[in-house]
Amino acid sequence: MSTITRPEFERAFGIIDLPRPPAGVHDVGDGDFDAIGREFLWNLVHHAGLQPGERVLDIGCGVGRLALPLTAFLDSDTGSYIGFDVAARAIRWCQDEISSRHANFSFHAVDLRHPLYNPGGALDPLSFVFPVETAGVDLAAAISVFTHLPPDVMGQYLRQVRRSLAPGGRFFCTAFLLDDEVRARLRAGKCRIPFRADAPGFWQEGHVDHPGAAIAVDLDWFLRAAAQAGLVPAGPVLRGHWPDDSGGEGFQDMCVLQALDPSAAGRG
Ligand SMILES: C[S@@+](CC[C@H](N)C(=O)[O-])C[C@H]1O[C@@H](n2cnc3c(N)ncnc32)[C@H](O)[C@@H]1O
Repeated sequence: MSTITRPEFERAFGIIDLPRPPAGVHDVGDGDFDAIGREFLWNLVHHAGLQPGERVLDIGCGVGRLALPLTAFLDSDTGSYIGFDVAARAIRWCQDEISSRHANFSFHAVDLRHPLYNPGGALDPLSFVFPVETAGVDLAAAISVFTHLPPDVMGQYLRQVRRSLAPGGRFFCTAFLLDDEVRARLRAGKCRIPFRADAPGFWQEGHVDHPGAAIAVDLDWFLRAAAQAGLVPAGPVLRGHWPDDSGGEGFQDMCVLQALDPSAAGRG
């Protein structure tokens, strides 16, 4: 946990002298683009101990919502950032507007199939290898991405995260995670996404007519898949307020994972 307070943090890293993506380049959901980006940078620092000299991998980076505030935080000599996404226009915008001004930031478009974001994609995410060296990353982030991936792709991505992490590396992930307590909260019927408290199986689509728009998995399954990939929680899962709009630090659940055996991080 960082010792800097949130207001101090906002003062130090809140001003970003870069363009913002025009409307229509890429849809990353509702809400204040800048405020959400700053909030997630704060989460990475506060919950996952991100340091300015570290190497960051942003899985499903979208149109730079996290990258933009990171330009103010990462050290331009020792820190670095790699983002990838299936959305080619978003990546082009990031390359043109961010990499052109910050040489330590790179962005990759990967033509992976996704039923919502890239239905005509040529590549299968189940066999995708992240565009980073083994053990080449100190912090991996997947913000509002596992909430769109089916469990088999989550499994592949967890294995790729493990391969990517250097010793001491952390993975910050948001997700919709189900357990008995969450199902009880869903029964209140206040969830803005129509997840079902009584759905059979260990995962479900929030919008059956729009695959990939919102996906929830059982917390037990997620932790088992993470452990099979060689990752364990670094702390408690931080519950979001998505099931019933009450409590929670953010909308989605958040967790930080680290290598099961830190001495073996990056193998496999
Ligand atoms: C809700 S957006 C979040 C984007 C970004 N992380 C942010 O917080 O602004 C979900 C992102 O996941 C990307 N995506 C979908 N399938 C993907 C995959 N298999 N691998 C990487 N990114 C993917 C989408 O293109 C989209 O940019």
